Amino acid sequence: MMFGDWLDIGPVDQIAPGTARTLPVVGGEEIAVFRTQNGEFHALINKCPHKQGPLSQGIVHGGMVTCPLHNWNISLKTGEAQGEDKGCVPVIPLKVDAERIYLLRAAVLGQRAA
Ligand code: FES
Repeated sequence: MMFGDWLDIGPVDQIAPGTARTLPVVGGEEIAVFRTQNGEFHALINKCPHKQGPLSQGIVHGGMVTCPLHNWNISLKTGEAQGEDKGCVPVIPLKVDAERIYLLRAAVLGQRAA
């Protein structure tokens, strides 16, 4: 379903608190959509800025995900590696409206060029 510039990716209850689901992008990078224990939603490219670990398989805690490969902590809000680690993964703007999750269409499609 179209909603202006936003892409409807389905109901919020498809993602349990503290987990993520992935969204394939044709010709682009996979997107990981996270739900925190507090019920916040965030979307990032599903690649750790260190060595491209699948962030969707990491542990979500607070506003962060711990990469499953080498345990870097990545901010879900900014995509930035925390502490001594340096790097940043692109964040996809996301909003929740009437219990559905929307991603900014231009940001999703922009991944195709990458
Ligand atoms: S690939 Fe994520 S911490 Fe190394």
